[in-house]
Amino acid sequence: MGDGTSSIREVKLEDLDADAFIREQVAAIREAVGDDTAISALSGGVDSAVVTLLGHRALGDRLKTYIVENGLMREGEVDRIVGWFAALGVPVHVVDAREKFFAALKGVTDPEEKREKGITQVFYKDVFAGLVRESGAKVLLQGTIFTDVEETMAGIKRQHNVFAQLGIDPEAEFGYRVTEPIVSLRKPAVRAVGRALGLPGEIAERPPFPGPALAARVIGEATPERIEIVRKATRIVEAELAQVNAFQYLAVLHEDLVTGIRNGKRDFGLQVEVRCWESRDAVTAVPTELSFAHLRRIADRLVAEVPGVVSVTYNIAAKPPSCIEAV
Ligand code: XMP
Repeated sequence: MGDGTSSIREVKLEDLDADAFIREQVAAIREAVGDDTAISALSGGVDSAVVTLLGHRALGDRLKTYIVENGLMREGEVDRIVGWFAALGVPVHVVDAREKFFAALKGVTDPEEKREKGITQVFYKDVFAGLVRESGAKVLLQGTIFTDVEETMAGIKRQHNVFAQLGIDPEAEFGYRVTEPIVSLRKPAVRAVGRALGLPGEIAERPPFPGPALAARVIGEATPERIEIVRKATRIVEAELAQVNAFQYLAVLHEDLVTGIRNGKRDFGLQVEVRCWESRDAVTAVPTELSFAHLRRIADRLVAEVPGVVSVTYNIAAKPPSCIEAV
């Protein structure tokens, strides 16, 4: 292929034997970690959930699982994830890193810089390196998937979790090794492995969510205030679209203000964009044909429940050239 994914053999859904894959990866994790300990970090998405369960199966309590409260998560997310994994017998430690992330994101408006400076550097150099030091772990298990590598190498987006293909040596750069048990899979295959591992449907079938979290859904600077606005909009959009069975759905907070009218007066206010996608693996996608009545209901709720919003749009362009996320 010559695009950096060439060293990775994709395992297609139709060729996947989930139980055999689990056995192989459990053995590979044991081999990679040896007598050391490893850490994994849950993002709330299916990829990190699957990697954590594989690691737990391979290492038992030699795997320490964390959730990094970065201040960019959806409403109630940390408690929800801790609860899900407690029920699966996996203890999760919460790390409060909100101040670090917001300090790094301050004044950053360029999308790639947001990913690199605001998210990658803080996650890997600061937060994980600290956890590795404290826990004595030598290995970070990470849920990179085939599509992440592919998109990064194609120069579309620098996924925050791709290293080797960019010539980054995490051991030299961050002080620990990274193992990527599901890097040969695309999303539908990850879900199949998740189901085979006993992951409940609400996690295994969860729509994708980006590692940079709500920072990927704020155009311009991701301040705590702007993240709070998109968090409120996300709660409404997710509640309204959960029954549609789409691949992914989200709210985006735009940077430009637009003129609106409220209580008979001009109100220079916020614009929220709603996106809802039909896709198999996020490489291409088309917008879901929602009914106009449904769209209007979402708009009415966003305007009524999210302070300052005066305009709501629905993205009707396909990927490509659109992308699933706006940042
Ligand atoms: P795009 O926006 O490139 O998204 O069409 C494709 C899929 O990847 C997710 N995504 C990300 N996931 N870190 C992630 O972990 C990122 O930086 C990132 N950017 C996009 C996106 O939600 C979609 O499922």
